[in-house]
Amino acid sequence: MTPDLLEQGARRVEERMKVLAQQGSQTASGGRSAGYGRLSQGEAVDTTHGRILYLEGVNVSFDGFKAINNLSLDIAPGELRCVIGPNGAGKTTMMDIITGKTRPDSGTVFFGSTIDLLRYKESEIAQLGIGRKFQKPTVFEQLTVFENLELALKTNKGVKASMFFKFDSAQGDRLAEILHTIHLADSLNRQAGNLSHGQKQWLEIGMLLMQDPKLLLLDEPVAGMTDEETERTAELFLSLKGKHSLMVVEHDMSFINTISDIVTVLCDGSVLAQGTLAQVQADERVIEVYLGR
Ligand SMILES: Nc1ncnc2c1ncn2[C@@H]1O[C@H](COP(=O)(O)OP(=O)(O)OP(=O)(O)O)[C@@H](O)[C@H]1O
Ligand SMILES: [Mg+2]
Repeated sequence: MTPDLLEQGARRVEERMKVLAQQGSQTASGGRSAGYGRLSQGEAVDTTHGRILYLEGVNVSFDGFKAINNLSLDIAPGELRCVIGPNGAGKTTMMDIITGKTRPDSGTVFFGSTIDLLRYKESEIAQLGIGRKFQKPTVFEQLTVFENLELALKTNKGVKASMFFKFDSAQGDRLAEILHTIHLADSLNRQAGNLSHGQKQWLEIGMLLMQDPKLLLLDEPVAGMTDEETERTAELFLSLKGKHSLMVVEHDMSFINTISDIVTVLCDGSVLAQGTLAQVQADERVIEVYLGR
């Protein structure tokens, strides 16, 4: 990207942000629907059966140790599902399976009712519209907030497509809206390395949003955040719900309490309990294996 193009892009975003600011920042999410979906690269996900993600009877062993044990679970489109469970329960391994990083020994993993995820490579699964946020922020520290978001648009494209990539106005609108969503509207030209830990996490979520994922997997997103950052992250996730489907793994129960509808408790590689946080917290088995530890 030439400095010229970068400047043009940044100017367009700044102009767009002024308009959004005049409309009131709350309208940013309302306006998003116009831009959303246009850039979608994934093939259509068939959710007519009411499920965006479907796992059944999944098993994975590492050197004879069963990390995932007959795991079955499904998520509805637009749902924000929370997953909790003790250390070593298999939460991260489950995300590794969904995203193609780990191959299960047996079982079924479907994206919608027609896409068999076990047939795809990790990079293809990202292109199908499954975004993943690892615990540690992985933003480009030397680049600005704007450049990081702009780069995220290109990462899923082939070499040729990225060489001829031009930042169009729809993408500028989208970037401006995402900047509001991730609370970084005032930090467009700040170097990512100078952001706080929480802001880096938001920027990385923004980078995922630039690719318009249908399903977002977030592994311990508020670990290491201040209380205020955690609260703002809760607001952010609640604002994403409905537009995207989310699976959030966390140990922070007050955060889970703020954002959760249905909570799935994982233990020893399978689902131990599922329900509202109050329901699972009252479940004797959960108290014994998890909360009581
Ligand atoms: N590549 C691997 N090789 C060997 N064992 C592994 C591998 N990946 C995970 N495990 C083991 O599988 C089990 C599940 O690990 P996993 O990381 O999925 O747990 P988790 O629920 O994410 O825990 P935490 O809350 O601590 O992040 C653990 O006992 C872990 O040591
Ligand atoms: Mg983990």
